[in-house]
Amino acid sequence: MNSWPHKHILTLANFSKEDFKMVIDLTHSFNSVSNADIKNLPSLKGFLVTSLFFEPSTRTKNSFELAAKRLSADFLSFHPSSSSLSKGETYLDTARTYCSMGSNILIIRHSTNHSPFEISQYLDSNGFKTSVLSAGDGFNSHPSQGLLDLYTLTKFFSPINLDPNILFNKTILIIGDILHSRVARSNIWSLTAFGANIVLCGPETLVPEEFSNFLNHESPYDLADPIKNRGKISISRSLEKSIKNADGIITLRLQKERMEENLLTSMQSYSDDYCLTTQKLDICSQEIPILHPGPLNRDVEISSQIVDRYPNCLINDQVANGVPVRMALLYLLSKVRIKI
Ligand code: CP
Repeated sequence: MNSWPHKHILTLANFSKEDFKMVIDLTHSFNSVSNADIKNLPSLKGFLVTSLFFEPSTRTKNSFELAAKRLSADFLSFHPSSSSLSKGETYLDTARTYCSMGSNILIIRHSTNHSPFEISQYLDSNGFKTSVLSAGDGFNSHPSQGLLDLYTLTKFFSPINLDPNILFNKTILIIGDILHSRVARSNIWSLTAFGANIVLCGPETLVPEEFSNFLNHESPYDLADPIKNRGKISISRSLEKSIKNADGIITLRLQKERMEENLLTSMQSYSDDYCLTTQKLDICSQEIPILHPGPLNRDVEISSQIVDRYPNCLINDQVANGVPVRMALLYLLSKVRIKI
């Protein structure tokens, strides 16, 4: 296996195709372990993995914990409500405290954009060798979700070879609250790396026109974009029109906790226009894969009928794939640490 180049995983904007492929291949290997009778491997024995979730989570937090335990790491879990945050301790000092206890990897979720980056800079400049992994920061980045969605779509379209290049020229429709979505941003970086074209669909308040230039903006943290030819991004206001040409759909939750003002005329008009229903899916000529990162608001952005009965609804696969994807990320970061 090639060496893994990233000490911290904060964004997918600096992932090369080789990086993505390494994660996919390793995920595939760990997936077979998840299905075996004995699920634990000794790979991270003696490592300390710590999860610092300053924001709620069900899927990401628990699948990172399970991933660490499956790799035999020691695991510490921080709970904001019973921590010394209430005594005024900052998140930087919280991170430093867990690193002083010997954490090799910090997994961080926080409502502030770029907070894992800030923590990684602070730890690097103070001589800590700890790796930082963003588990979702503000509306900036959710790398492990972007990777598990890439893996889930690759497995759907290329179940035997698991070749993400199968996504070249496919149209992936992302519907809903793009403005506040770290998942959408990470999906854009991972899917366009393999030539998928992204259509962002929603009202102007949630999908501003500027998003068509998202990939031309400076990469975060002054990182060079290692991908020469990415897929394109376009904007659509009409779900009925854009669904016709879609090869796959990702629906998103309305991120009410990040909305600073009322951006919708009414919930009813939003769901009339943008809730994915079987009637709207009937416009498609084929049964296409449907993804949702969760948590979901049934019948606001996706109908219960699709969640519970549509054969190509891959929401459960996304959750299941989250464990081996996160095993792969922890494993790769453990290799970086050895080289330092
Ligand atoms: N998709 C996702 O990040 O879900 P959680 O908030 O439950 O972790």
